[in-house]
This record gives sequence, C-alpha cells and structure tokens, in this order.
Amino acid sequence: MNKKEIIVSGIQPTGNLHIGNYLGAVKKWVELQNSGKYEMYIFIADLHALTGKMTADELRTQINKTCAELLAAGIDPKKTTFFVQSHIQEHAELAWIFNCVTPINELERMTQYKDKVAQFKNATAGLFTYPILQAADILLYHGDLVPVGQDQIQHVELTRDTARWFNNKYEQYFPETKHLLTPTPKIMSLLEPNKKMSKSLGQDHVIELSDEPEIIENKIKKAVTATEGGGVAPGVANLLVLIKEFGDQKTYEKFIQMEKDKTIRYGDLKKELGEAVGKYFSNFRTERAKLLRDEKKLTKIMSVGTKKAKKVAEKTMIDIRKIIGLK
Ligand code: ADP
Ligand code: TRP
Repeated sequence: MNKKEIIVSGIQPTGNLHIGNYLGAVKKWVELQNSGKYEMYIFIADLHALTGKMTADELRTQINKTCAELLAAGIDPKKTTFFVQSHIQEHAELAWIFNCVTPINELERMTQYKDKVAQFKNATAGLFTYPILQAADILLYHGDLVPVGQDQIQHVELTRDTARWFNNKYEQYFPETKHLLTPTPKIMSLLEPNKKMSKSLGQDHVIELSDEPEIIENKIKKAVTATEGGGVAPGVANLLVLIKEFGDQKTYEKFIQMEKDKTIRYGDLKKELGEAVGKYFSNFRTERAKLLRDEKKLTKIMSVGTKKAKKVAEKTMIDIRKIIGLK
C-alpha cells in the first residue's frame, strides 16, 4: 500500500477564530481529516505567538480557547494528531539547525516580516526568523502538503527552499512541501474590503465563529459596500463570497442575478447573510461553550496529541543529528 501523504498546519493562539481563518484554513483541515486519505498534524503555534504582544496570562488563556475552538470546528483528535507546538521541544531545535542553512537575504524578502517591521518599533529577531520556525514545524513531520490561506504561501515556499538547502548541504532527507489553498484563500475585511480580514484590524472588521447572531448581524450591517468606479465593489464581492459559503445555493444565485441586473438591495443581502452565518455556527457555539467548561478534557486531549507527535519528532531529530554530524 502507498504511504499516505502527510499534512501539517498550525494556527497562532492570538485571538478567537474568525471566518477568514475558517474559510482559508480550518474548514479545509476538517475536510481533509474526514476524507481519511491523509496523515494529519494540526497544532497550536504558541511559540510563533511569542513574536506578538500578548501577556503570559493572555497567552495561557488563548491557548485553551484556540484548542476548544478547533475541536468545536471539527478537528477530531482520533483522526488528527492535534497538539501544542511548545510541548514538542524538537520544533525549536530543528529551527536552530535551519537557521544555519537559511540565507539572511531570503528572510529579508518575506512580506509578512516587512509589514510587521514597519508596524513595530524595536522589532525582535523572532519576527525575522519566524518563517524558519514554521519550516521546522512542517518538516519535523515530513509535511507534503500545508493547507493555509493566501498570506501564508510565501512561508510555505520558504519551507520548500529550506528543505532544498538542507538536502543540498547534507543529503536528500526532506520532502518538497507544497501549499494547499481553498477556493476562498483570502476573505476581506468587512470595513476595509481591500485588506485581508484579520484579527489585527479590530473587532468590527472580522466575524468571529463564536459571535452571537445579533453581533454578526450588526457587524454585517456596518460592512462597506460602496462602489468605487465600475464593476462589483470589493465589499460587495466579499459579501457574495460569504453568502455562497454560508447560505444555500438558491439564495446565492438569487443575489448574483440581482447584482447583474442591478436590482440588488444590499440591505437584503446583509440581512440574509447575517442570519445564515449565525445559523451556520450555532453548533460550533454550543460545542465551544461545553469544551471551555471542561478544562480537564482539553488538557487530556492535548497530552494524547503531544505523545503521538513526540514520537515522530524524536525520530526525525535522531536522523538529523546523525546526518549533520552532531554526536
Ligand atoms: P490573522 O491574520 O487573523 O492573525 P492568522 O495569521 O492566525 O490570522 O491565520 C491563520 C490561518 O488562517 C492561516 O492559514 C491564514 O492563511 C488563514 N487566514 C487568515 N486570515 C485569512 C483570510 N482573511 N482569508 C483566508 N484565510 C485567512
Ligand atoms: N504562520 C502561520 C499563520 O500565521 C501559523 C503557522 C505556524 C503555520 N507554523 C505553521 C501554518 C506551520 C502552517 C504550517 O497563520
């Protein structure tokens, strides 16, 4: 029998999941997991989150929340090796080794790094070497495929390069990792629809999966739809993508037709979309609340995942130490 392809992906515990994360990554993770065709590793990237500004208490709380949210969204620890990055020390060790094969100028090209450095005074070295840790996350488990949103493509490409630099310097060991996108790899902000929907823009720019229906409806009501120039305005296009994903096919087709005929009323689109999103995540909200009341269960799930991941990570590092000449 052919070996199953290996899928690796992660998410930082920096805030509640929003529909951009869901449509760009998490929904796909669950589909791939349930297809039974892959060996899956999904983790909470808490070491990456240290490059941000959270306090220790905030980080602690958010790791639990992210764990509960991913489970509520459908990650099944029986089918997926699901764990917290920092529980497996090999991530940091492999990252150091990759530091020593990665040219500085390749890191200087990374757009996420350039954006962040422009935002922060006194940017840390962690922001600069962030993609190296990401390469270690993926290659520690020999990841073939990495399902992520559009903004992460460059980091997955760097992972592929890192594998090549390593393989060329030492011997053929790591696979050629590829990214995997959903049909909706870039959901836009509700208020600034020319920017990616992101936690960092602020509450009213994003719809969180845990938002109550009234909140969702209010946020969508305020979404920008104004047309600039000809064609479909970016804000409208974004709402149409969302109704396609969260509403039924007929409703979607109805609004597409009305947009073409120029009879569309954005108030109606927003109303139906708000209701559809609230309904879509109703089970998610219940499940999330249940899990958050059961911290013991979350801890147990994480420790089982750690054990499974640790076995693979340890084996990789035994190989690597030998290959690179460490005693
Ligand atoms: P944020 O930008 O809100 O901090 P993250 O960087 O934590 O989100 O992203 C986690 C995952 O969700 C990544 O795979 C990322 O590519 C994906 N993602 C984030 N925002 C979006 C978006 N607006 N549209 C599609 N995918 C997204
Ligand atoms: N950098 C990713 C993000 O911000 C999170 C991440 C860390 C990741 N390590 C990873 C994603 C490995 C895929 C694979 O979304």
